Amino acid sequence: MRILFLAQAFNSLTQRLHAELTAAGHEVSIEFDIADSVAEEAVALFRPDLIVAPYLRRAIPESIWKRHVCLVVHPGVIGDRGPSALDWAIQDSEAEWGVTVLQAEAAMDAGPVWAAETFPMRRARKAGIYRNEVTEAACRAVRSAIERFAGGYRPVPLAEAGGRGRPRPPMRQGDRRIDWARDDAATVLRKIDAADGSPGVADTLFGLPCRLYDACPEAELRGGRPGDLLGRRETALLRATVDGAVWIGHVRRDDAEPAIKLPATLAFARESAALPELPLPGWWAQSRATWQDIAYEEAAGVGVLAFEFYNGAMGTAECERLHAAYDWARTRPTRVIVLAGGTDFWSNGIHLNRIEAADSPADESWRNINAIDDLAEAIITTDSHLTVAALRGSAGAGGAFLARAADRVWARDGVLLNPHYRNMGNLYGSEYWTYLLPPRVGTEGARAMLRNRLPLTAKAALAAGFIDACLAGNPQAFRVDVMRRVTELAQSADFAAQLAAKRARRASDEAAKPLARYRDEELAMMRRNFYGFDPSYHVARYHFVRKSPPSWTPRHLARHRDPQRPPPE
Ligand code: COA
Repeated sequence: MRILFLAQAFNSLTQRLHAELTAAGHEVSIEFDIADSVAEEAVALFRPDLIVAPYLRRAIPESIWKRHVCLVVHPGVIGDRGPSALDWAIQDSEAEWGVTVLQAEAAMDAGPVWAAETFPMRRARKAGIYRNEVTEAACRAVRSAIERFAGGYRPVPLAEAGGRGRPRPPMRQGDRRIDWARDDAATVLRKIDAADGSPGVADTLFGLPCRLYDACPEAELRGGRPGDLLGRRETALLRATVDGAVWIGHVRRDDAEPAIKLPATLAFARESAALPELPLPGWWAQSRATWQDIAYEEAAGVGVLAFEFYNGAMGTAECERLHAAYDWARTRPTRVIVLAGGTDFWSNGIHLNRIEAADSPADESWRNINAIDDLAEAIITTDSHLTVAALRGSAGAGGAFLARAADRVWARDGVLLNPHYRNMGNLYGSEYWTYLLPPRVGTEGARAMLRNRLPLTAKAALAAGFIDACLAGNPQAFRVDVMRRVTELAQSADFAAQLAAKRARRASDEAAKPLARYRDEELAMMRRNFYGFDPSYHVARYHFVRKSPPSWTPRHLARHRDPQRPPPE
C-alpha cells in the first residue's frame, strides 16, 4: 500500500511506524504539518491508499478526511478524547492505559474505531511511557487497522465501541501545580512525570520562575521544611516534601536566554553552589531509590555499567564521569563488561543543550566531542575484557557509534538506532565511526547509512550488520537474556582465545592505520563544522534545542516530492 504519514515531527513513534511499515513492504512517505495546503499537495502528489497520522496536534483538513480514510493514533483508551491523554492518565494513577486508532472526522478523537490496544502503566515519565508502551501498542494497533482496512472492515462508531475513556480538557499549569506544603513525594513525582518531557511543571527555585523535569524518588535523605532545597548531587537538586524528599534533575529557567532545558545545577550554577553536596554512599554501587546516573553491578565474572543520562545526552562532564567509571570497571577481576546505558536511551551523543548554553558553543562542542572520543577510545582499546553494549534504550548519532565501539552490540527488539549525523546541520561526526562502521556494513553500506539518515529498527540494524543480536522486546526478558549470554561468554571455555583474537585484531588494525589517525581525520572535519564559515551545525542545533516547528519536510522523508520517483499508477 501507499501510505502517507501526516505528522508534527519525525518523533520516536513516527520513526518506528515508518521503519516497520516500510519493512512490511508498504511505500511510506511523510509530510510534516506545515499548513493545510501543503498536506493537500502531498496527498495530490502521492495519491495514497491510506493516510496515517501517528503524531499530529492539529485536525486533518476536511478536504482530506472527506475523500480519504485517515487513521489517527490517539494515546488513550477507547472513548478518551483531548490533547492531554497521557498527562491525565499519569496524574490520575491509571493502572491500565491504551492506544486507539480512530478514523479522522470533524470532531477531534471522535471518529469510528479501527483498532485499540491496552497496556499496564508503571511509574515513569510521560515521554518514557510514550516511547515504550504507547509506541508498542500503537504499532500493534496500526498494523491491525491496516490489515482490517485491506480486508474491507467497517470501523465501529465510537458510541458503540464500549470504551471507558471520556473527553478530557487540555491539562493546564493550574492542574499541574505542586503544593509543596501538602503534596507528598509520590504526588510530586506524579505531577512532574505527567509533564516530562513537555511542558514541565511551572514552579520556582531559589525564588526564580522555572519549569521542573526529571524527578526521581529519594528513599532516605530528608529534612528541612516542605519545599526547601536540601542539597545537590552532580546535576540534581534535592527538595523536601511533606513526607521526605524528591530529586529534580532538569529545569528550564523562564528568565534565561536561551530558555532551554538544562541540568538543574547548571541552570542554577551560582545558587546551587551554596547547597551541600550529597554524594552517593559507595562507589557507583547500585543504591536504594535515590538520584544516581551511573551505577555498577557485578556477578559471575561480569560487570554491568548502567548510565541513565537524561534524554541520552552526554555532555563533557557525563563523558568524563562515565569514562572514570569505565576505567575503574576495567580494573575489576571480571571478564566481560556490559555497557547497559539508560532505560529510554542508550546514548544520543554530545549534549546539544549544554553546548547551546555555553559561553562558546564551538569550544564546548570541541570539548564534548573530545570527551566522548576519549571514552570511545577507551572502549575500543580495552584488551583486558570483552565488552558488550546492551541497548535496552535507543541510540542516535554519536551515541549509536559509541555503542559500536564495544566488541558486541545487542539491542532490545523495539529500540531504534539512528547511526548518522547529518540531520544536525551536516555534522561530519566522530566517535571513530570511520574506523568502526565500514568493517560492519561495507564502505558503500556506510555511505548509504549516513546519507539516507533513516532510523533502523533493531531487526533492520541486525540485517544491515550494524548490531550483532536483536533480543527480546520485553525489558525484563531482555535483561535476563543479556545476563544469560554474557555469563556464558565470561565462562566460555575459549574465553582466553577470544580475548587473544581481539588483541591480535586490534594490533593488526593499529599497524594498518593507527586509531589516532582516524580521530585526527574525523576531528579535522568536525573542526570545520564547529569553527568553519558554514554555520549549518550551529543553526541546526539552535532550532533543535529550541524545538522550532519545522518549516518544510526533509526530502529524504517526503518521498512524494522526489523528482525521480515514478508517478503513481
Ligand atoms: N542533546 C541534548 N538533548 C537531546 C539530544 C542531544 N544529543 N538528543 C535528544 N535530545 C533530547 C531532545 O531535545 C528531546 O528533548 P525533550 O525532552 O525536551 O523533548 C528528547 O531528548 C527526546 O528527543 P526526541 O528527538 O524527541 O526523541 P526521538 O526518539 O524522537 O529522536 C533522535 C531521537 C536521537 C533521533 C533525536 O533526538 C536526535 O536527532 N537527537 C540529536 C542527536 C545528535 O545530533 N547528537 C549530536 C551529534 S553526536
